[in-house]
Amino acid sequence: MKVITTIDEMQETILKDKKIGKSVGFVPTMGFLHEGHLSLIKKARGETDIVVLSIFVNPLQFGPNEDLSSYPRDFERDHKLAENNGVDYIFYPSVEEIYPEPLTVTVKVNARTDVLCGRSRPGHFDGVATVLTKLFNIVQPTKAFFGMKDAQQIAIVEGLVNDFHIPIEIIPIEIVRESDGLAKSSRNVNLLTIERDQAPVLFESLQGAKALIENGEKNPNIVISYIREMILDKTNGNIDYIEIYSYPKLLELTQLEGKIIIALAVKFSKVRLIDNLVLNIQ
Ligand code: PAJ
Repeated sequence: MKVITTIDEMQETILKDKKIGKSVGFVPTMGFLHEGHLSLIKKARGETDIVVLSIFVNPLQFGPNEDLSSYPRDFERDHKLAENNGVDYIFYPSVEEIYPEPLTVTVKVNARTDVLCGRSRPGHFDGVATVLTKLFNIVQPTKAFFGMKDAQQIAIVEGLVNDFHIPIEIIPIEIVRESDGLAKSSRNVNLLTIERDQAPVLFESLQGAKALIENGEKNPNIVISYIREMILDKTNGNIDYIEIYSYPKLLELTQLEGKIIIALAVKFSKVRLIDNLVLNIQ
């Protein structure tokens, strides 16, 4: 495994690999790797000849009052995990390498941003789409692997590659959870002990919502109220949003039918957690 920190070296290296016919799998991350990231790496390992992992905490996607400075980082640990899971190259650039000066062009996302995390985090998905456009051009992968933990991000990235004719296949991967149901996240380490004990309620509330729907509930507001009450009752978190939309278009629904996403975000003292469930309703 090789660590590459410059754009030039990354592009030259990949070009050589592609010239001899290798397919390239790409897993973009902000590091502090956990089982969720590793499941993307393992999937890439199984599907492509070369696996590139990027680790870059992208300032452009953090709002002014968000956790850019407290975002957890541990490159040595990430390096070991990447090596043990069959990564070929870690692309690990500095902020100066990616943003040497203010960009003259950025990517602005026009659809699917007025809901869920897009509404709570203005500009966030523009920052994600902009850095991914850069990373896609630097790594030039055949396939890129993303987690359903960030289901809105996947829908937006699919829009990005379609609209700009970027020849990369986007592969969605299931959410990986702790044994108590909490979705794995680099941010979980910033939960207080009591908050960590309460956090599985997020997934429990989604499971309860699923059961309601399977029992015939068609009204999204009733499902949302059920989730809200459970989270208010069993956690000290502040609800940022609980919303239900069609997936992947993220359009409003009056009736629960077809492919839907139930998604929520809850703020604890130092961390905002997100989780979601995608269901196919007949
Ligand atoms: P990051 O939060 O590090 O996540 C990197 C990838 O891991 C994303 O595709 C995310 O959905 C996936 N992931 C995180 N937790 C997961 C879990 N519990 N199960 C399955 N997959 C999980 O998402 C980003 O970074 C950034 O926005 C990025 C795409 C790198 C752009 O900066």
